[in-house]
Amino acid sequence: MSQILVTGGTGFIGSHTCVELLANNYEIIVVDNLSNSKEAAVDRIEKISGKNIKFYQADICDYEKMTAIFKENDISAVIHFAGLKAVGESVQKPLEYYTNNIYGTLILLRAMRENGCKRIVFSSSATVYGMNNKAPYTEDMPTSATNPYGYTKVMIEQILRDCCVSDKEMSVVALRYFNPIGAHKSGLIGEDPNGIPNNLVPYIAQVAAGKLQQLSVFGDDYDTPDGTGVRDYIHVVDLAAGHVCAIEYAEKNTGFEAVNLGTGNGSSVLEVVAAYEKACGKPINKRIAPRRSGDIATCFADASKAKKLFGWEAKSDINEMCADSWNFTKLNPNGIE
Ligand code: NAD
Ligand code: WQD
Repeated sequence: MSQILVTGGTGFIGSHTCVELLANNYEIIVVDNLSNSKEAAVDRIEKISGKNIKFYQADICDYEKMTAIFKENDISAVIHFAGLKAVGESVQKPLEYYTNNIYGTLILLRAMRENGCKRIVFSSSATVYGMNNKAPYTEDMPTSATNPYGYTKVMIEQILRDCCVSDKEMSVVALRYFNPIGAHKSGLIGEDPNGIPNNLVPYIAQVAAGKLQQLSVFGDDYDTPDGTGVRDYIHVVDLAAGHVCAIEYAEKNTGFEAVNLGTGNGSSVLEVVAAYEKACGKPINKRIAPRRSGDIATCFADASKAKKLFGWEAKSDINEMCADSWNFTKLNPNGIE
């Protein structure tokens, strides 16, 4: 049976997608340089699924290594998660972000082309909708960015479109994720950020666990029902299932498609805090702080294209997402080790 190469497969979304792929009887090969994850994630994926996976600790920027991986295996499609993802850090280290994300993708695409692999599912982001569109976001809206991280996603989408123009047998699905949170029900895999988290739910989780003192709510004067920012939070297991659908779609279709993976509903910061308090059974210490630069008031998906093309829709609500995040946090006080 042909194999799926998962780059960044030991990371947050990648590890959950590996579990879904194995549950759907795909054979997988994981490549990760462990810059933002741990090898222990491989054991956890194997434990949940009861199956073995082939793991390469390698950098996607390493052309020799990537070529060797393609030569050693029979890879029919790639799911490409590997990338750096911290918005603020990308402003401080633009060259690192452009090199890792864009050069890394170019090397991967070259290795794919030289080995006749023509299918790729790419981790794009709702960040490509920029500041000028209005929610709900539809895939035909113009894309733009406000920081180097966002530009890497906009540019990689363009590179992938161009590859489809030059090779009519190429099949690309760019999945634009909204705000992935939650964890696998087993509590064995979940989000395990290095250092102080930037994103809302990992931050709340550490306040709930007693590791951080207080959540800063970035702004309560937005034009939203309670004044705090509204986002489309999506359970990472729902998101992972969307990748299996995208792979099935790419097996049957050629050309480039961008597809939103979101629930189509927004929750405010205060609604997420309330859901987390319910999940962990204690109050989350918080204060209202100034707006965070670069944030918008409201961001949520029009999720109809994923339903039409893949028959996929998200199932979990915000309470379940927070309950699963808390379960993972409680069971892994020191992360995945
Ligand atoms: P993550 O950091 O947990 O996973 C990314 C993985 O890629 C990590 O395990 C890291 O070690 C690996 N990696 C990074 N650079 C690499 C390289 N050069 N070679 C090999 N491995 C490398 O992040 P995640 O949340 O799972 O995100 C996965 C993808 O989804 C990323 O491309 C990210 O930009 C995108 N995305 C994430 C979110 C989010 O909020 N989590 C939202 C939209 C899009
Ligand atoms: C959510 C809401 C904050 C932290 C980011 C990236 C985006 C995508 C997903 C990759 C906002 C508020 C947050 C805190 C807060 N990633 N907040 N206190 O900014 O929607 O999206 O992750 O592609 O590109 O920008 O997610 O979780 O950081 O913020 O009040 O300590 O929570 O202002 O309203 P965001 P987030």
